[in-house]
Parts: sequence; structure tokens; C-alpha cells
Amino acid sequence: MKQNGISLHPLDVAAGPEPELLCIFGTGDLGRSLGLRLLQSGYGVVYGSRRPNSCGPLPQGAQVMTHAEAAQSSNLIFICVHREHYELLTTMEHHLKGKVLVDLSNNLKKGMYPEANAVYMQRLVPSAAVVKGLNTLSAWALQNELLAGKQVFLCGESGEAKQAVAHLATKLGLTVLDKGSLSAARELEDFPLKLFPEWRLPLSIAVGLSAFFFFYLLIRDVIYAYVEKKNEISYRIMVALANKVVFPIVALVMLSLCYLPGAIAAFFQLYRGTKYRRFPNWLDRWMLCRKQMGLVALGFAVLHAIYTFIIPIRYSFRHKLISGVVDEVKNNKTTPSYFDNTEAWGTDSFISLGILGFFLFVLLGLTSLPSVGGSLSWREFNFIQSKLGHLTLFICTAHGYIYGWNKFLRPSTYKWYTPPGYMLCLIVPSVVLVLKLLLLLPCVDRALTRIRQGWERTQPK
Ligand code: HEM
Repeated sequence: MKQNGISLHPLDVAAGPEPELLCIFGTGDLGRSLGLRLLQSGYGVVYGSRRPNSCGPLPQGAQVMTHAEAAQSSNLIFICVHREHYELLTTMEHHLKGKVLVDLSNNLKKGMYPEANAVYMQRLVPSAAVVKGLNTLSAWALQNELLAGKQVFLCGESGEAKQAVAHLATKLGLTVLDKGSLSAARELEDFPLKLFPEWRLPLSIAVGLSAFFFFYLLIRDVIYAYVEKKNEISYRIMVALANKVVFPIVALVMLSLCYLPGAIAAFFQLYRGTKYRRFPNWLDRWMLCRKQMGLVALGFAVLHAIYTFIIPIRYSFRHKLISGVVDEVKNNKTTPSYFDNTEAWGTDSFISLGILGFFLFVLLGLTSLPSVGGSLSWREFNFIQSKLGHLTLFICTAHGYIYGWNKFLRPSTYKWYTPPGYMLCLIVPSVVLVLKLLLLLPCVDRALTRIRQGWERTQPK
């Protein structure tokens, strides 16, 4: 390896029988965890520390020296210290000439400094090649071997330096994306500061829907009963309203919102006659958070299932049941006086569809996990997420329809002329299922398949 000028070959090629030595500046959590992972991947590790004799426990097999000594032992140095300590690099600039410095630092908040940390480092040590990267890895992920397939970003001015770091990252099981020159460093440093960016839209929709349906049903059920019948049933807010309204309704609407953008996208492609034009930004954003949308919906479905099974142990439920029986005994009659077979079919069907839908929903959630989804072929994954996904939506929608089958035409259902929650929540899933049916029509399906295979309708001039 050349000492002057940045000319690097893959780090482990030249090593021979001795493990390639890599240097880490910083003996904090991140430095220690990175060292451990590098040692387990077959590299030798040398730490550079301000206090080499009292820097606390380090991974077994690692050496520790002063910064200057450690810098001389390797051509690649991971900088795991805070930006405030970068000045120490200027004191040993001659040792860093031609070396690759990997800047793993992050800041506490955005825009703390006028320039990115990596740009600042490059300015302090112009004779070295600074590569910004691996800063999205946490000490926890490094320690617990949670690196397989994880994507990391790199940027820097020297292609060879980036290649050397990328080679090493690949050996750790990471997937590398080159983000270009050091001007991308600020973007990379801002990544770890993002708070659940893909979850924001699904969570906002969930909160919005929950609030809307909660107040809608609060007025329709509790306030209506109080105003019209002087019946005080506010206790229903805790269990009945949550289970009748918020959880199942939000789960069903959000499940359908996972499949709606796919249908809209298909109609866009049919209309434009090409797959090569970008979708509008709102549709792109929506498509990108479908997995999170589905997982939030699954969370609500789980709550609905749990709440459903506690219904029989509620005091109000048992009281209603027992007083009904006592009334029947007192009046010497059963209500209705015959066993209603249709009613029995209805309840059994809607409960079993609920359970089946829930089972498929859990299956969808499991296959969306990277560890499970990654073990499936593309065809298997597509089959589960698309075919089984639509089947789940169909079954859960049927569960809702059968639940309300004998109430749709009953005038008393429409309190203050408003439809109940389960009717409102069936609108979006029904629309999605109808759109899907249209897309399955042989003529539509044929046209869409051709477009997705690259065929383009020529535009009139
Ligand atoms: C309503 C059971 C899964 C959506 C109900 C009700 C029961 C029930 C007993 C009537 C609630 C009441 O009157 O208080 C079950 C069981 C399930 C299950 C046992 C599986 C273990 C699901 C799933 C979804 C769903 C996966 C949708 C994603 C609905 C809807 C209603 C409902 C929309 C109507 C809510 C309303 O009254 O407005 N379910 N369900 N259910 N369920 Fe399920």
C-alpha cells in the first residue's frame, strides 16, 4: 500500500497470514462495538486513545496505543470521537498523510455547525482522504450482530478510499450505497436524527381516524342515549366504544389504505399507457409507507381481538345477560320464542370470518418482517402480500358486512339520521375491492401486464 497519495487496494488482500490491522480512534461504546465486530470478522484492531493505560475494557485481542502510534499501524482509521476533539488530528497530520479517515460522527441536532463534520475533518487534514459513513449504525446493532443486509451510506472525494471502506462494510454483512462526494455528508449526518420518518404518515392517519370515529360514535351512542332516552351509558367509553369503533374500524380502513395506492397506480399506468412516467409525489409517499400502514392496522386488529374476548367478563354484559334471563323466567317466555337459525348462522359466520381474517392479517405482518420476507422468493413474497393481502381485505370486509347484515335496513340504526360506524368503515374497503375486481378483468389485466413488461402506447403528436 502506498503511504503517500491515496492508493488503496481491498484491505484484506495484501494481508497475508497476518490479519489486516485497522485503527480506531475512540474507546467509547461505538468504538468498542465496532472493534469487536471487526475482530470477529478477522481483522486486527488497534485503538488510539488519549489515555492508553486507563481507557477501560476493550474487546479481547485488540491493542491500545497513543493516537500517533496507532495511526502509523494502519492505512484506514475509524474516527469514533466527537467533532469537538477533531483538533487532535492536526497534531499528527504527518502520520495521517495518504490515509483513509472514516468519520462516524453524528450531532445532537440538525444545523449545529456551519459545515458537516466530515467536511470540517477534511479541512483539518487535507492530506488524508475523509470518507463519511457507517454513522447510521448504532453500538447496539454492532454488538448484537444486527448488521446483515442493513444499508449504510458512504460519501467522500476519493473513489478508492470509498471502495476500500465499502469492501470492509460488505465483509461486515452491510449493503453499501455510495452517496457521492463529501457535499452529501450533511445529509448523512442528518439521517440518524430523523424520528420514524416512514411511520409519520400511517400514525397520523391512525390518530386522525381514531379521533374522528371516537367522537362520531360518542355522539351517536352515548350522547344520543342520554339526550333521547335519558339513559346514562358513559361507562361504554372504556371498552364498548373502543372495541366497536376505534380498533376494528381503524384496522379495516387502514388495511384497505395499504391496497388503495396500488390500485390507483395501476389506473395511472393504464391511463398514461406507460410505466416509465413518475407517479405524483403524494402517491409515491403513500406507496412507500404501505408496510408501516399495514403494521399499524395489525396493531389495531390485535387490540380488537383482545377486547372482543374480554366482552363476556364485563360487569355490564353479565348484568344484561342475567337480568334478561330473570325477566324471561318471570314472564315465563323466551325471546324470541323460537331458535333463530338465520341469526345463529349470521353470528357464527361473522365471528369465524373475523378469526380467519385475523389469522391471515398476522401472516401478512410476519412476512413483512425483513428476516421472514428475505427468506421468500420474489414470487412467494408477491403472492402473500398481493393475493393473500387482497383475500385478507375481502374476508375482513365480509366480517364487517355480515356483522351488520340485518341492521342495514332497520330505521333505528340511523340515530339522528347518521349511519353507524361499521357502515362508514366499509366504504373504503369496498371501493378498493371493486377497483381490484376491475383490474382483474381479462382485458384490463392484459393491458396492464403489457405496460408493466415495458410496452408503451405511442402518444399522439
Ligand atoms: C366487529 C369479533 C377480527 C373488523 C366485531 C364484533 C365482534 C368481532 C364480536 C362486534 C363488536 C361489538 O359489537 O362490540 C372479531 C374476532 C376477530 C375479529 C373474534 C378475530 C380474532 C377482525 C379483524 C377486522 C375486524 C381482523 C378488520 C381488520 C371489525 C369491524 C367490526 C367488527 C369493522 C364492526 C365494528 C362496529 O361495531 O362498528 N368483530 N373480530 N374484526 N370487527 Fe371484528
